[in-house]
Amino acid sequence: MHSFGYRANALLTFSITVLALICAMASFSDNFNSPSPSSHVQVLNINWFQKSTQGNDEVSMTFNISANLQSLFTWNTKQVFVFLAAEYETPKNFLNQVQSDHCPCHS
Ligand SMILES: *[C@@H]1O[C@H](CO)[C@@H](O)[C@H](O)[C@H]1NC(C)=O
Repeated sequence: MHSFGYRANALLTFSITVLALICAMASFSDNFNSPSPSSHVQVLNINWFQKSTQGNDEVSMTFNISANLQSLFTWNTKQVFVFLAAEYETPKNFLNQVQSDHCPCHS
């Protein structure tokens, strides 16, 4: 007949199958979600600029950043990385990119 081992095995298999199905449904449902984050960045002040002979110039700036990231947070979101990058063009280089060193990203 059905021993304890058989019943435990059946129960475990069923539970894991249901769990996998729910995970797949949660993952699939994210396809219908189209997040629309918005942000506004304003340079308030350029505090100092330091030219370096090694090539890594440093600048300290004060920004006023407002962002609405609410639409990014769904049941499928584990973590959101936010950073600030400035892109500009010079006669020598088509694309220059500067990324922020520290990003105070509090929710
Ligand atoms: C920063 O921007 C917000 C709105 O975008 C504004 O209400 C606020 O006064 C600004 N703060 C400073 C210090 O400029």
